[in-house]
Amino acid sequence: MIRSIGARLATWYALAATVTLACLFVAGYRLLENRLMHGLDLLNASEFTQIKAHLGNDFGQLDLRSIDQRIRETTEYASVLFYINVHNPKTNMLFYSTNLKGVPIPDVPGEHIYDAELAGVGRVRVGEFILGGLDVVIATPSAQIDTVMQGYVEVCAALLVAMLLASLAIGYGLSRFALRPIRLISGTALRIGSDNLSERIPVSSVHDEVSDLARLLNAMFDRLELSFNQIRRFSADASHELKTPLSLVRLHAEKLLFDGPLLPEQEDGLQIQLEELARLDKIIDQLLFLSRAEANAIRLDLMAHNPAIFLRGFVQDAGALVEHQGLHFEFSHQGSGKIRFDGKWIRQVLLNLIANAIKVSPPQGTITLSSVLAEGVWRVGVEDQGPGLAANQCEQIFERFVRLTASGGRDDKGSGLGLSICRSIVGLHGGRIFAQNANGHSGLRVTFEI
Ligand SMILES: Nc1ncnc2c1ncn2[C@@H]1O[C@H](COP(=O)(O)OP(=O)(O)OP(=O)(O)O)[C@@H](O)[C@H]1O
Ligand SMILES: [Mg+2]
Repeated sequence: MIRSIGARLATWYALAATVTLACLFVAGYRLLENRLMHGLDLLNASEFTQIKAHLGNDFGQLDLRSIDQRIRETTEYASVLFYINVHNPKTNMLFYSTNLKGVPIPDVPGEHIYDAELAGVGRVRVGEFILGGLDVVIATPSAQIDTVMQGYVEVCAALLVAMLLASLAIGYGLSRFALRPIRLISGTALRIGSDNLSERIPVSSVHDEVSDLARLLNAMFDRLELSFNQIRRFSADASHELKTPLSLVRLHAEKLLFDGPLLPEQEDGLQIQLEELARLDKIIDQLLFLSRAEANAIRLDLMAHNPAIFLRGFVQDAGALVEHQGLHFEFSHQGSGKIRFDGKWIRQVLLNLIANAIKVSPPQGTITLSSVLAEGVWRVGVEDQGPGLAANQCEQIFERFVRLTASGGRDDKGSGLGLSICRSIVGLHGGRIFAQNANGHSGLRVTFEI
């Protein structure tokens, strides 16, 4: 079974062209053979005219010897071409041309022109003529015609093979040409994803089936883009709209606390409310960021930074944060040079990774930040001594709202959006981020490359 339409079209085209040519050749064979046979019949007829002229009008009065002699005079010079046999039914007189050597030409009753097999000669074309009371039978060998027809068959067979090859090549070229718009459509459809929904299939100005299909697909992409944008705008709008009432609720709670005096249980309740509100506020900010990043609405402020200098500032804050939790912090950097990135966002990625590492680290554990700049690639890894992850979870944790309950984790109140945001930020920088279990000890190592 041929799976490509192009190959199928080429095969059908080649078969159709070759079969048509073969039919033409068969018809040509019949025509040519008839023409050549007709030529032999004309030859036989002209030989008869010659005999008739030589016998003269008075052949009725001639004796047998003279008739024999006159016929022989006409026929001897053409003895290679013609075999002649004359018969007078009344007198039973018979004449055989010398080349017949006494063998009569076979007779087919009721036929005047026919093919026959002559002993010692082979296939012959026979013409039977009536002259007065004489039956004149003239035969011409048709072996030459057989040779010509044999040659014709050989030439045709060679031409058919050439035709098959040529039409396969032409069919392949034609099908590639005809399917070009389809390839264009599939190429574009492959490229269109949630991140570039605005790309469209190029449509030619001609109105044919393929351009109609392209127009139809483009209309479908239009509708898809519209609904995608509506969904994106909805989550952005919803996040935005939630922020105002949330701030008001927080304000009122804070005012209640400030104004006091409250019973201790009421104060505790308000504190919990405020904590949860802060968490909700953070989730809304994260969702707002993700929907803006998806809509390509985040503008990066890309600048060439020296990672060593950039990290020097960050490490002081991170070290304080980590040590505040009773953990150890280690930092290393190798390589020199500059890399273009947006410091504000990369700082956020690093903070997310450090915060995750703090959450899973055992007491007195160490968090290591290692940075390497080589061959224009900046690779930063954050490693902890926590429980690590199962192999299949290393990719899962970058999905939205995925939170795996880390055993012994502290302050496990995350939303599961931190790593999605990290991936989004690194993606905006054209880099990648991935997690793998630490080498040689328990713990996870999350690495990003820019
Ligand atoms: N260093 C790590 N070791 C083990 N598991 C981790 C580590 N970092 C992340 N995870 C797992 O991946 C999940 C997702 O992490 P992510 O940072 O996206 O969300 P979160 O930390 O739970 O919430 P958020 O960052 O939004 O406050 C975490 O809940 C945790 O189960
Ligand atoms: Mg996190």
